[in-house]
Amino acid sequence: MCGIVGYTGHRPAAEILVGGLRRLEYRGYDSAGLVTVDGGLHVRKRAGRVDELAGLLAEQPAPGTCGISHTRWATHGGATTTNAHPHLGGDGSVAVVHNGVIENYAILKQQLQAEGFVFRSETDTEVIAHLIASYLEDDLADAVRKACTRLKGTYGLAVVSPRFPGLIVGARLGSPLVLGIGQHEHLMASDPSALVGHIENVFYLQERQICSLTAEEWTIVDADKAPVQARTQPINWDLGDVDKGSFAHYMLKEIYEQPTALENAMRGRLDDADATAHFGGLNLDAQQLRRADRFIFTACGTSYHAAIVGEYLFEELARVPVEVEYASEFRYRNPPIDRNTIVLAITQSGETADTLAAMRESKRKGHPTLAICNVVGSSIAREADGGVYLHAGPEIGVASTKAFTSQVTVLAMLALFVGRMRHLSAPQGERLVRELRGLPQLIRETLTCDEQVQQVARKYANVRNALYLGRQYLFPVALEGALKLKEISYIHAEGYPAAEMKHGPIALVDKETPSVFLIPRGEVFDKVMSNLEEIKARGGPVIAVASTGDERVARKADDIIHIPEAPDYLQPLVAVVPLQLLAYHIARLRGCDVDKPRNLAKSVTVE
Ligand code: G6P
Repeated sequence: MCGIVGYTGHRPAAEILVGGLRRLEYRGYDSAGLVTVDGGLHVRKRAGRVDELAGLLAEQPAPGTCGISHTRWATHGGATTTNAHPHLGGDGSVAVVHNGVIENYAILKQQLQAEGFVFRSETDTEVIAHLIASYLEDDLADAVRKACTRLKGTYGLAVVSPRFPGLIVGARLGSPLVLGIGQHEHLMASDPSALVGHIENVFYLQERQICSLTAEEWTIVDADKAPVQARTQPINWDLGDVDKGSFAHYMLKEIYEQPTALENAMRGRLDDADATAHFGGLNLDAQQLRRADRFIFTACGTSYHAAIVGEYLFEELARVPVEVEYASEFRYRNPPIDRNTIVLAITQSGETADTLAAMRESKRKGHPTLAICNVVGSSIAREADGGVYLHAGPEIGVASTKAFTSQVTVLAMLALFVGRMRHLSAPQGERLVRELRGLPQLIRETLTCDEQVQQVARKYANVRNALYLGRQYLFPVALEGALKLKEISYIHAEGYPAAEMKHGPIALVDKETPSVFLIPRGEVFDKVMSNLEEIKARGGPVIAVASTGDERVARKADDIIHIPEAPDYLQPLVAVVPLQLLAYHIARLRGCDVDKPRNLAKSVTVE
C-alpha cells in the first residue's frame, strides 16, 4: 500500500526519494509524487508508475537537499495526478504525504471550508494539510501535533514547509514510520527497505510520537510534547536483501531463498538435549502454555493459509484445540472465549490492519497474545505480549512465498514445543527435531522440479479456470496454490478439500479446466487417488504433484510434477514449492507483472 520516503541532508533529495520509492513499489500503488524545499516548494506528481514521475523530473527537476515523497494506493478519490500526494495546506505553507485513512475527514473538511480553506483533491489527506496550516505559527512540529489531536483513523505522516527549510516532521498512529539515522543526513520511510544502503541505524517511531529531522539533528516528542529518549537499532538488512540479484523477479528469488529462510527460522531454536524447540520472546510461562485450553490463530491472505496448516500441526503434535479465524471477521465478532485461550496473530508484515485490530481486540478481552511475524519492530511485533520472528529477510514479491514456508516451520516448532510440555515423548520429540533439521535440504531437492513445472506451465498457461485439490495437511496448500495463481496470473482458481469437490466444484470440470492434485505418498494417498479418478472419469485434465517415482499416479495423471517424500506433517512445506513455481511461470508466460500484480498490495494497512 502507500509508501513514504523523506530525506534531509546534503545530497540532492529528488534522486534519493525516487530511489526509495522504487524500493517501495512492491507494496502496491497507483500514483507517485514528491516535493522538495529549496527557496519554495517544488511539487512533482503523476498518476501511474514511479518511472513516470522520474520522466517528469527529467523534464522539470526538483532542486534542493530536503524533500518528502509518496506512492499512493487510492482509497478516497480515484488514482489521478490531482489526488496523488503531496497535498498542500493553506496557500502552500505546508506539504503533506500520508499513509492511512482519516475517518472523520468529511466533518473536518466542512469545518475547514467554512474557515475559507480551498480543497483541490478528493482525498482525505488534503484535510490534514489544511489542518496543519491552520495551526502553523512558529513551530511546525507543534502544528502537526495539534492537527493530529483532531484526526480519527490512521496515519503515517511526513510534512515539510517552505518556512522551515531543511526540516521534516513526521507523525504516526496505526501506520508505520521508521527513521534512518545517518551522518549529516536523516531519512524517513514507511518501510525500512527504502533506507537500506543509505544508513546503518534506524529508529521505529512509536504510536502518537512526533519526530523532527534536519540534516544534523533528530528529536522525538510524545503526544504531550514531552521529549522522548530514543535509542536506535541496527537495520540488519543489506543491499543483497533488497536487490533481485541474478533472478528475473523478486518472487523467483524468494522461492529459491526458502531453504536458507527455513535455516534462519530454525537457527538456535531446536534443542537436541531436551528434544524440543526454544523461543526467546514468547513471554509466557510454562504453566500458561500447559494450562491453555485452546489457541485461536488469526491472520489474512497467505498467512491465513499458514494458520490452517498450523491448526493441523497443533492438533496432531500438541493435542490442543485450535480455531483459525480470518482477522477481518474475528475483529468484529464477539465469540465467547474461555479464559485459558491464547490468541496467535500470524503476519509477514506485522502491519496488516485487520490482524492488528483482531489482536488488539483480543488483548482488550484479557487474552495472552502472541505473534509470528517477519518484520522486526512492526506494529504487531511490538504490541503482542510475546512472539517469534521468522528471520526470513525482506519479502518484496507481493505474492508471499518464503514467509509462508517460514511461518509453517515456526508453527511446527511451536507445536513441538507445546507438545513436549504435554504428551509428546522424548523419542517422538527427537524424531521431530531430526526431521525439522532435514527440511532445508528437502526444499533444495524439491526446487529441482522447476524444469518439470515450466513444461506444465507452457501447456496450461492459457486456461481460464483451475482447481487445486488436497486433503488433510495439503488442503491449506491447495488454497495457497490457488491463491498464488489468482494473485499473479489473474486466472480464476479454487482450492478445495479433494473429497469436498464432489459437492459443487466438480460441476466446473471439463477438458478446459485442469485440476492440480496434491497427492504425495502418505496416510490419505488412496483416498485422494479415488478423487483423482472421479475427475478423470469426467474428462478433466489432471496435473499431479506426487512423490518421486510414483507409477500409479503417473499412469492416471495427464502431467506430473515430482516432489521428494516427507512425513505427512512436513508435506505442506514441500508441496507448496511446485505450486509457487507454477503460478510464477504461468504469470510470466501470460506477460503479467509478477512482482507488482494489479490491484494488490504487499501490506494492507487499511480495513
Ligand atoms: C496482502 C498480501 C498477501 C498477504 C496478506 C497478509 O494481501 O498481498 O501476500 O498474505 O496481505 O499479509 P501479512 O503481512 O499480514 O502476512
